[in-house]
Amino acid sequence: MKLTDKAVQTAHEDHFGQPGKLFRAPARVNLIGEHTDYTGGLVMPMAIDFQTIAVISPREDKRLAFYSHNYGEETIFDLKSLERGRQGHWSDYPAGVAWSLWKEGIRFGGFNITLSGDVPLGAGLSSSASVEVAAAMAILSLSESTLPLAKLATLCRRAENEFVGAKSGIMDQFVVAGAVAHRAMMLDTRSLEFDLLPLPDDVRVVIANSMVRHAVATGEYGNRRDEVEAGQAVLQQECGVALLRDATLADLGACRDRMSPESFARCRHIITENERVLQARDALLESDMPRFGELMVKAHTSMRDDFAASCEEVDTLVEIALRQSGCIGARITGGGFGGCTVNIVKASEAEAFVSAVQREYAQATKIEADCFICEPADGALALAKKGGVA
Ligand code: GLA
Repeated sequence: MKLTDKAVQTAHEDHFGQPGKLFRAPARVNLIGEHTDYTGGLVMPMAIDFQTIAVISPREDKRLAFYSHNYGEETIFDLKSLERGRQGHWSDYPAGVAWSLWKEGIRFGGFNITLSGDVPLGAGLSSSASVEVAAAMAILSLSESTLPLAKLATLCRRAENEFVGAKSGIMDQFVVAGAVAHRAMMLDTRSLEFDLLPLPDDVRVVIANSMVRHAVATGEYGNRRDEVEAGQAVLQQECGVALLRDATLADLGACRDRMSPESFARCRHIITENERVLQARDALLESDMPRFGELMVKAHTSMRDDFAASCEEVDTLVEIALRQSGCIGARITGGGFGGCTVNIVKASEAEAFVSAVQREYAQATKIEADCFICEPADGALALAKKGGVA
């Protein structure tokens, strides 16, 4: 399905019999800083040019109707039943956002909303944050409110954590809302301060989808988070750190006997990853892409060995990428257990890189990988400011 503003506007009118206002939110890819965002750590994502479009119009009867153009399906319920909780359905994401905004005291009447998106699902590119932020922008317009970036991201994250029940950090919602074109964002997930960093013109960010699906709402992501939090609790008690973010490798070593080997390894990944993000920022500021690439490779090894969050197909994809002449760095991106790799590739060799990776990955696994050559895109707030609202 080709995603155009007109197609979604028309779908909304056909379905609800009235025109609506249009909002959009991109997807994201994380360049480095994985699984650091729920212990106050550092991340470096950028928004990418996939999107969720939300078209909204008011209705008189105080009901909330969510129509998915992708699934051709509508869910409708009363404003009063916002406490209905998770249904295990796609509508949990936008309904959770309505719930979270309402809980914050933001008042709105009934609405019809159409959602349509082209973000690959289960690929680690934040399809869920994209839906959440697009829905939030749309609902906020009805209540004639605006929210600053940190608040908008925090409320969308709350929808995902408390309504959908996925224990994710704040990276995705923050960058999907607040990204700026041509820049990566280094975000401190504790203070929510961030730096916008340029990528050199002569490199491209290439995303390769292993086609192995992952789901943040279930399973391994939550297990990893529990292991990390168990390790953090020991460090808090023994070393007096406020968050894992504040712990050093020496602190962790001193506590080794008091935590499980899994917690030890997960915490080691996070402590070293935070350091790698700082070094990656310096590398970008100095346009030292070989250094940036080395840090990505180390980050992948750490995700694979210490965090145990990669899988055979993704490791194969990284190995293949690193064999290509134009490849500067490659690693798994996102929550893990499948999904995509992110690669920094010389611009002049990006097309050749894509062909070679697809060919060699198909030979090795019999799977056709989707690949995308990306540039850092605008987040939802910048899009709205530049006239993304129609
Ligand atoms: C998912 C979560 C994020 C983050 C990443 C891992 O995308 O939604 O909050 O934890 O995994 O870095």
